[in-house]
Amino acid sequence: MGVGYMGIATALAFARRGRRVFAYDVNPRVRSRLRAGRSPYHEEGLEELLRAEVRRRRFVVVDTVQELSASAQCIFLCLPTPAGRLGRIDLSPLRRAVRELGGALRRVHGYRLVVVKSTVVPGTTESIVEPLLRRTSGRGVDLLGVATNPEFLAEGRMVQDALHPERVVVGVSDARSLRWLAAVYKGFGAPLFQLSPSGAELVKYGSNSFLALKVSFANEISRWTEVLGSNIDDVVRALGADPRIGPTFLRAGPGFGGSCFEKDLRAFRTRAEELGVPACAADAALAINQEQTEHVSELIQSAAGRLKGRTVAVLGLAFKAGTDDVRESRAFPIVERLVRDGARVRVHDPVALRNFRREWNGGVGRSLPGVRFATSAAGALRGADLAVLQADWPQYLEWPSRWSQAMRTPLVVDLRRALSPAAQERAGLRVLALGVGGGARGARPGSPRASSSRRS
Ligand SMILES: NC(=O)c1ccc[n+]([C@@H]2O[C@H](COP(=O)([O-])OP(=O)(O)OC[C@H]3O[C@@H](n4cnc5c(N)ncnc54)[C@H](O)[C@@H]3O)[C@@H](O)[C@H]2O)c1
Repeated sequence: MGVGYMGIATALAFARRGRRVFAYDVNPRVRSRLRAGRSPYHEEGLEELLRAEVRRRRFVVVDTVQELSASAQCIFLCLPTPAGRLGRIDLSPLRRAVRELGGALRRVHGYRLVVVKSTVVPGTTESIVEPLLRRTSGRGVDLLGVATNPEFLAEGRMVQDALHPERVVVGVSDARSLRWLAAVYKGFGAPLFQLSPSGAELVKYGSNSFLALKVSFANEISRWTEVLGSNIDDVVRALGADPRIGPTFLRAGPGFGGSCFEKDLRAFRTRAEELGVPACAADAALAINQEQTEHVSELIQSAAGRLKGRTVAVLGLAFKAGTDDVRESRAFPIVERLVRDGARVRVHDPVALRNFRREWNGGVGRSLPGVRFATSAAGALRGADLAVLQADWPQYLEWPSRWSQAMRTPLVVDLRRALSPAAQERAGLRVLALGVGGGARGARPGSPRASSSRRS
């Protein structure tokens, strides 16, 4: 129930493992696209998997909650839990769905297991979802199990993560729910961790806080490497080789974005206050992320000299390459700051342009007109004084020399250190890379085109 980014990956992974999956989303556009085998979201391998499972009839889209609850024995709630007021998560979409599901369950026979897969703060399943579901369905423990099963997949590699999870975490309060969940996950080859519902919910927030902290830690160290004249990638490679630390997520960039880290960390902090427990690690991760966002603007400013009247191309609008998800993308504060500083801004992304335009125009862009949405990277770069590489889509990394030639100054602020020395050399680019000391700070817009480039 709820076929967004997480719901579709989860549903298709179950289908691929041989379960018969019934999917319901409140949005009729999502339902009709899914039914036609067209993915509403961009992710590698997703549409192929969707088409195959629709054809095999193991992934079936239904039009009502009634049909869903009559057809499926185990119902996974993959509903949004967006940021709400005062740092809390907004549980209203989940509550609405649970009420509707409870009403539908009154009219079906047999045991059902309802599983909260959405990310919810510790205590939500037991104190909110289960009582609401029992009240609206009129079902006792003999006819209804309620469990939680947080999801850990990462966008950009959603399909692989859902098909091959490293672990399955379940929060259950009775043996039958555990048996059912173990059966549903049979064949995934992942160890199953059994906890209480609030324990499982805590694993999810602990995981996101820790991962966000790793990103923020790398970002903080990158400030050191910029000042000391070394390269952050060399430093984190050596750091992450220590198995107690590990290399994943230890990667500096423009700061974390995406639909989860920011909202989950804020919700975690607020829940910590309610419970009277500390959340200093989450606080630190958020504070460093904010600091990094400001630092990125300073970096761009230092490369440009002045921004007023300059033309700046921002390449990559998704919160990272590999997805069309723009939620909390760092492209928003970057573009906003550029516009406020008087730059003419052109933006491009190979798959996320439409989502970015919609969010921008519906939000801060309403009062900040003038951003041009380019349908090609070459179009965004034409006549630009500076380019900012925000997401490292592979097509940008090839950087043909005609792109540099079309720019007024072939200068790039590379927030991902993604442009190889060979690409820079070939394209005659000057690059100021985040996290790398002794960068191309001398290259000012308007300065002569570099005859040979230097990895900054
Ligand atoms: N996106 C991720 O990478 C990811 C990873 C792990 C966990 N999560 C968690 O999973 C949950 C869902 O996230 P998402 O990114 O998939 O959100 P999303 O916004 O992409 O998808 C939610 C879907 O639910 C549908 N929906 C809303 N109300 C409904 C209702 N009453 N009945 C049926 N459908 C309804 C929406 O139309 C939408 O398609 C959140 O709690 C999130 O924190 C997300």
